[in-house]
Amino acid sequence: ITLQAWSPFQKGFFDGVFLGDREHYAELNDVLDEVAAAHGVTPTGIAVAWITRHPAHFQVVLGTTNPQRVRESAAGSDVELSREEWYRIFTAAGHTVP
Ligand SMILES: NC(=O)c1ccc[n+]([C@@H]2O[C@H](COP(=O)([O-])OP(=O)(O)OC[C@H]3O[C@@H](n4cnc5c(N)ncnc54)[C@H](OP(=O)(O)O)[C@@H]3O)[C@@H](O)[C@H]2O)c1
Repeated sequence: ITLQAWSPFQKGFFDGVFLGDREHYAELNDVLDEVAAAHGVTPTGIAVAWITRHPAHFQVVLGTTNPQRVRESAAGSDVELSREEWYRIFTAAGHTVP
């Protein structure tokens, strides 16, 4: 069974996207910007790359109606994040690594 990540860019059920939300996710967006620049893609692409890097090989179920965001997401699926980058994003989102 392949796991699917639905609502991949949402910060809650009806609260909107975390991408670009500097009021609530400033550190996360800073790190996404930095990692995106390093890989030549957008933060949306890195959000996709973060999910696809998981060893369970999640499929990312996009909800956007914007063709440019579809392209940015597709570009991110070709990026392989390092473990350091992956955990940096994880902790910048407010999670702790045991
Ligand atoms: N079965 C279930 O339990 C379940 C639960 C949740 C979701 N789903 C399904 O999974 C699919 C995806 O869910 P979702 O629509 O919540 O996914 P999503 O891709 O996280 O969210 C899509 C929404 O976020 C906006 N958005 C996406 N990327 C953005 C960005 N970089 N900047 C600003 N806005 C951005 C989109 O606006 P634009 O269109 O303007 O880009 C759209 O309003 C849907 O088909 C949904 O029905 C199923």
